[in-house]
Amino acid sequence: MEELKLDLIPPQDLIVGNGIGIADYQKVVSDFDRIGRGITTNMINMDLIKSNHTVLDVGCGLGRLARPLVNYLKEGEYFGLDTTKSSIDWCNTAYKDISNFSFVFADLFSNYYNVGAKTKASDYVFPFEDKTFDYIWSTSLFTHLVFDDFENYIKQMSRVMKPGAKMWNTYLVLDDIALGLLDELNAKNTRHKLPFKVKGGMVRDLANPEAQIALYENKIREVHDKYDLDILDVRYGPWSGRTENIRAGGQDVIIAQKR
Ligand SMILES: C[S@@+](CC[C@H](N)C(=O)[O-])C[C@H]1O[C@@H](n2cnc3c(N)ncnc32)[C@H](O)[C@@H]1O
Repeated sequence: MEELKLDLIPPQDLIVGNGIGIADYQKVVSDFDRIGRGITTNMINMDLIKSNHTVLDVGCGLGRLARPLVNYLKEGEYFGLDTTKSSIDWCNTAYKDISNFSFVFADLFSNYYNVGAKTKASDYVFPFEDKTFDYIWSTSLFTHLVFDDFENYIKQMSRVMKPGAKMWNTYLVLDDIALGLLDELNAKNTRHKLPFKVKGGMVRDLANPEAQIALYENKIREVHDKYDLDILDVRYGPWSGRTENIRAGGQDVIIAQKR
């Protein structure tokens, strides 16, 4: 990839305040750069994203993954969608001269990210035509959507994907190994603890389920199948404390393809 556009780094208070998921305040800016570049480089190396693709970044936040793609997606088009207005406003200002990058605000309720909104994410229709996108991804979005919202988002993503298009999404996946490690995880009192059962998964805080949710792998698979998506790969990360067969950085990654 060519040299990055360093002016597309958001101010530190926005990165921290808008819940992009970087805990160490001293490292926010360098992590924003390093993680964004690392994930997009992997996507390019895995041939998931091509320079002429039309792509959608769902829950794009402050453009952590948009920024490293500015010099790559020369013949393509990028759309970011998010429920945090200040993130979308910042991106629209910062990227105003980059004509093939657009950011869309979705005013949807989230107990964690957008409390005042009236519309539920489970009722939302993505503002894009059917079969628009060659590639779709989300990083740390499905760790903040309750099950009905997750199901609608998979349905919407599938609808706007071209046949054969791929999607790459991160999750906290509850398979037998992660479930077997939960007691230990909950005892450690880390941010990944998941003591409460809810529809489709487990949450850290029952009063604020969007703060963190993990979903059962069998439920994730059912929903993909229902909306014409074949799961190609589940790459487990170390978040649950698992030590074997780690193929992702933190959260788990699921790669799927539209039939
Ligand atoms: C942990 S942050 C990750 C942001 C970005 N993907 C990144 O990696 O930097 C989660 C993002 O999801 C957004 N979000 C939460 N609920 C959403 C929804 N229903 N639709 C779109 N975005 C949502 C939040 O506003 C927030 O920007």
